[in-house]
Amino acid sequence: MKIGIVGLGFVGLSLTSVLASKKFNVIGIDVDKEKCRSILNGVSPFFEPDLEKTLKKGLKNKLQIASDISVVQDCDLIFVTVGTPQNKTGAIDLSIIKNAMLSLGKSIRKSKKQQIILIKSTVVPGTMKDIILPILEKNSKKKAGRDFGLISNPEFLQESTAIKDTKFPHAVVLGGYRTKFMKKVKNFFTKLHPNVPIIITNHQTAEMIKYANNSFLATKISFINQLSSICQKIPGANVDDIAKTIGLDARIGGLFLNAGPGYGGSCLPKDMKALIKFAKMTGVEPALLNAVEEVNTKQLDQIISITKKRLGSLSGKRITVLGTAFKPNTDDIRDSIAIELIKKLLRKKAKITIHDPKALENTRKIFGNKINYSRLVGDALSKSQCVILMTQWKQYEKLGNNEFKRMTKKIVIDGRRMLSGKQLDVDYFAIGLGKEK
Ligand code: UDX
Repeated sequence: MKIGIVGLGFVGLSLTSVLASKKFNVIGIDVDKEKCRSILNGVSPFFEPDLEKTLKKGLKNKLQIASDISVVQDCDLIFVTVGTPQNKTGAIDLSIIKNAMLSLGKSIRKSKKQQIILIKSTVVPGTMKDIILPILEKNSKKKAGRDFGLISNPEFLQESTAIKDTKFPHAVVLGGYRTKFMKKVKNFFTKLHPNVPIIITNHQTAEMIKYANNSFLATKISFINQLSSICQKIPGANVDDIAKTIGLDARIGGLFLNAGPGYGGSCLPKDMKALIKFAKMTGVEPALLNAVEEVNTKQLDQIISITKKRLGSLSGKRITVLGTAFKPNTDDIRDSIAIELIKKLLRKKAKITIHDPKALENTRKIFGNKINYSRLVGDALSKSQCVILMTQWKQYEKLGNNEFKRMTKKIVIDGRRMLSGKQLDVDYFAIGLGKEK
């Protein structure tokens, strides 16, 4: 059996590498030739723990990489993992997947195989039936369900644990009609992930499951962030003790209750916006989802207002931002709250210096020489008047008076309570902790 994977981003490249490392016959496809060259050399275009190791293992097993989609002709299973970003209004932008489906349709036209296409890209409910299926049928001159299989297969992996999540998913969702193709795919996943629940449903429900998952995670984060704001007003209150305790209640669960500067990244913000737009289109006013977004925006505003309260006018003030990646163990800064923070501080004419263990280069692509970059945390703090800890990188937990003494004004704003247990000779403020009077 030959497996084609179209689109080599986080999802596609992780899947390609994991399947190839398990000795499946895999061909990864991406239109970006530069990216393909790098992958063929065993170099991942982005940082993701364990990815390169898995990719190299795959390459030893004869993993193929191509930039021309016509190679899918020979594939039995074809996973589609291209991006579905948001447009200017926040709605989903389907142009990439539409183009990919057009060329995919043409490419499968000549194939003699009974191919199965699995859509992993996140798409709003109805996209499969109303957009993807018609484009594929028109361009392939074949009929879905008879000549080829078409299945929704949403992905739940998290960046920074993408390889582990690809190897051990919590569930496999298969959306589509109960055809021979569905049976084949179910067998494939049963063998690949024994003991993992397989949910078989229709296209639109599978599409909605992905949005349900991400919007619920965003809701948990905004919930704890809202509570953290209340805690800040109660002297001595600690949001982490609250999160830990309510998390012990199995009905609530302990994950995604880490209060902070708000959720960012390439998925949660975009999927929330897409779901809100989609709900409105269906005539439903998504009051809860709107509130989740509003709380998220307010978290950042809060950090700015705390900074202003401590520093007065921000114009000309030297502020250090620690961490620009949207979360630790990634170099991804897409929709990172820290990047938003820097943009807002620059508008107020602050002088910014940043440090991040992995994301310096990506951050430089956005800000160029508008801000300063430090490879060492100590240097980033030198002569600073205020430091804001944004990303929960492990190494920031080690910071102490020794490092802060290089600052001219010792104001520390801790977005993740990383230094809360320490005796610090600084003006310390942490998200989620009520300052003792
Ligand atoms: C998310 C979903 O978790 C994943 O299932 C989906 O497939 C893609 O989107 P990812 O974007 O990799 O994954 O990041 P995630 O770990 O979910 O974090 C998203 C944001 O929420 C980050 O900014 C993170 O810092 C923040 N977060 C997460 C919190 O502030 N608190 C938490 O408790 C958890």
